[in-house]
Amino acid sequence: MKESLNSLWNLFQERKLSRRTFMKSCVALTAILGLPPALTNKVVAAAETKELPTVIWLHGHECTGCDESFIRSTSPFASDVILNMIALEYDDTLAAAAGEPFEHHLHHLLESKKGKYVLAVEGGVPLDENGSYCQVGGRPFVDVLKECAEGAAFIIEYGSCAAWGGIQAAKPNPTNTVSVSSIVKGKKIIKVPGCPPIPEVMTGVIMHYALFGEIPPLDVEGRPKQFYGNRIHDTCYRRPFFDSGLFVEHFDDDASKAGWCLYKVGCRGPETYNSCGNLRWWNGLSYPIQSGHGCIGCSEKGFWDNDNFYQRLPHIHTPNTITDVDTLGTVAGFGAFGAVVAHGGITLAKHKYDSIQEEKKYLAEQEAKQKEAEQKGSDQ
Ligand code: SF4
Ligand code: F3S
Repeated sequence: MKESLNSLWNLFQERKLSRRTFMKSCVALTAILGLPPALTNKVVAAAETKELPTVIWLHGHECTGCDESFIRSTSPFASDVILNMIALEYDDTLAAAAGEPFEHHLHHLLESKKGKYVLAVEGGVPLDENGSYCQVGGRPFVDVLKECAEGAAFIIEYGSCAAWGGIQAAKPNPTNTVSVSSIVKGKKIIKVPGCPPIPEVMTGVIMHYALFGEIPPLDVEGRPKQFYGNRIHDTCYRRPFFDSGLFVEHFDDDASKAGWCLYKVGCRGPETYNSCGNLRWWNGLSYPIQSGHGCIGCSEKGFWDNDNFYQRLPHIHTPNTITDVDTLGTVAGFGAFGAVVAHGGITLAKHKYDSIQEEKKYLAEQEAKQKEAEQKGSDQ
């Protein structure tokens, strides 16, 4: 374990990484922090001179899915910064060390880094039976949490369980699990909800503090604005279909294959705040909506008590639905909705819809030919 900490630039040098790689990382970091490219120089200067913080990462009542998502991120910068460059001094799930010496190490950190360490917490906090439903190092997690929170510079509630209570808190909440901020008071707390959250958000929050010495701007719920400032619906690539009234009615219909809007099959995008549409997972490869399933609102409070994930949201104003291909052609031809984006969506939808119809026609013809040939064979 490191005793003396370094700047990001020093760590790059220690690892014999080039100045060019460092500069490229700073450009990526500027984007993750939600800063304009003009501020890259400021990020470079801070990365050269500011010391990286110590991070203590606790695990409470949870499935460790947030860790799993994080370590499987193919974005080398996100995972590398937290796991290898920032001094992740204690993480009882990821560490090779275990047992009493590791717990002694935690106590040493709590004293030696008092007021300076970042406390990341994954998982909810069960309170019933004196917190005994979740024990860490033979102690109730709630006690470990309170002890570690005491000297933290700030706390990150990483994932929906830490931020809101999560699946464990689903009705009837048999262990009386609550969020971290229900227990810890008088501390700066940042919520990074999601089930799991996007790994780059964790990197962005910690690096913002590392480089600028303060936590990023938060919204009213305590979430970093640069990552939770927009609804999924606002950045969704299927939005032109929504605006054009083109909806999937069933997961096996042609509209689903054509990639239309998932609102009618339960998508929570219109009321969910997150960056999935911009950042996505696995180096920007995909996210739920891109994989054909509506957003279930996994970063929103209480999403786990939703009775039916496939029921459309009430109270959302939608344009008239178009499902008939002839109407679609007329609208696409004359631009009846006026809006360019809607027209683009309809044209694209019609194109995809036509391709599916042509494919179906072709397959039906092939099947008919096959049957005819079989019939002839049996007649002879
Ligand atoms: Fe995208 Fe869902 Fe909004 Fe449709 S309802 S545009 S699928 S976020
Ligand atoms: Fe969760 Fe919705 Fe994103 S389900 S992963 S917030 S698209």
